[in-house]
Amino acid sequence: MAAIGSAVGLGNIWRFPYIAYDNGGGAFLLPYLIALLTAGIPLLILEYSIGHRYRSSAPLAYRRISRPAEAIGWWQVAICFVIAIYYAVIVAWAVRYTWFALGQQWGDDPDGFFFNDFLQVSDGPGMVSGFVSGVAWPLVAVWALVLAVLALGVRKGIEKANKIFIPLLVVLFVLLVIQALTLDGATAGLNALFTPDWGAMLDGGVWIAAYGQIFFSLSIGFAIMVTYASYLRRKVNLTGSAMVAGFANSSFELLAGIGVFAALGFMAATAGTAVDEVATAGIGLAFVAFPQIISTLPLGGALFGVLFFGCLVIAGLSSLISIVQVIVSAVQDRTGLGRVQTVLLVGGATALASVLLFPTPQGLYFLDTFDRFINQYGIALAGLVMVLVFGWILRRLPLFEKHANAISSVRLDWWWKIALGGITPVLLGFMMWDSLRAELT
Ligand code: PHE
Ligand code: NA
Repeated sequence: MAAIGSAVGLGNIWRFPYIAYDNGGGAFLLPYLIALLTAGIPLLILEYSIGHRYRSSAPLAYRRISRPAEAIGWWQVAICFVIAIYYAVIVAWAVRYTWFALGQQWGDDPDGFFFNDFLQVSDGPGMVSGFVSGVAWPLVAVWALVLAVLALGVRKGIEKANKIFIPLLVVLFVLLVIQALTLDGATAGLNALFTPDWGAMLDGGVWIAAYGQIFFSLSIGFAIMVTYASYLRRKVNLTGSAMVAGFANSSFELLAGIGVFAALGFMAATAGTAVDEVATAGIGLAFVAFPQIISTLPLGGALFGVLFFGCLVIAGLSSLISIVQVIVSAVQDRTGLGRVQTVLLVGGATALASVLLFPTPQGLYFLDTFDRFINQYGIALAGLVMVLVFGWILRRLPLFEKHANAISSVRLDWWWKIALGGITPVLLGFMMWDSLRAELT
């Protein structure tokens, strides 16, 4: 449940729909499925096996495999630190917007409201800079909640929180999708998302997008699953659990695509334009397009808004908890400090960075830079180094295979080693090379 809670996050609700739409619509689903099966699930199983076999945080687990490999773990911890700093900000925006949605406080111009009134953005030379001022208090609240859950520990904090969050999220999200599907224009929206552009499948960029989405969405390469798996019972269906988490995340993603595009179809129908015109990307989708949709709903706009932003909050919180736990458990293993002290120390430092960095004039610029850097290099590099070091240099895949097979329902075999040792490094290498090239030209 906690693995699903980590995986299902902002990436499912706003990232997947526009990535799928931009990369061939219906035709994106095939590369996406192949990415899930050849890289997503095999890597998820690798992380599960490492964490479960060595029963410790990522740096310590890797160190137990081979001393120098500890560095990979600290790299992943550093990535988690950076992500936590800005992920919390987006969750805090969603908290604020759940409240705004009740009275549709963004007025007639959600775009101006978000960028001028809420963020107080002023355009600097070539960059977006802004005071992320409206978010200071919700940000403090988000951090207080996350640290409280972590201080309660894995069983009483993380597990309990996820046992509440996930069922709640599923119920709210199904309600949201049902409401979206009953809107005028919903079918046009779904057609825009699912009509396949088969030519897209010949485009290398589409495949890169599919693998990138799977990595971010499944939280692979961040050592989150290593950390979470270290707390599982000794006898547990390891490969089966990894597959459940992988397929649950993708199901949620598809459902989110359906809900978001049904709503965009309604928006296009109301404005009398094509769905293409309104399908904007990224932050704009959640904090500009959705407020517009909510305001124009004939009935139940407040409900729809609270459902949408409430889902973002819940999905984001359970992901944020997992990111910070990676740092906490790593520091705990290293220093021998107690849990509550470590949470106060590490969580406090992360929270402080988040609170100090974002409500500054450069806040949005930081967010944008961090997000780009993490997505293009951090994750792919960590994943690539992991498979190269554990698969090729140290040749430990047979050991993890044996470990997982002894307790699991689905047996690992040659397919797992080919996917991890062959397909994944080639594709990740290609991804890194491609984004470096794009950066340089
Ligand atoms: N998987 C999360 C999502 O889809 C994002 C995430 C990445 C969460 C890394 C935790 C760690 O939004
Ligand atoms: Na996800």
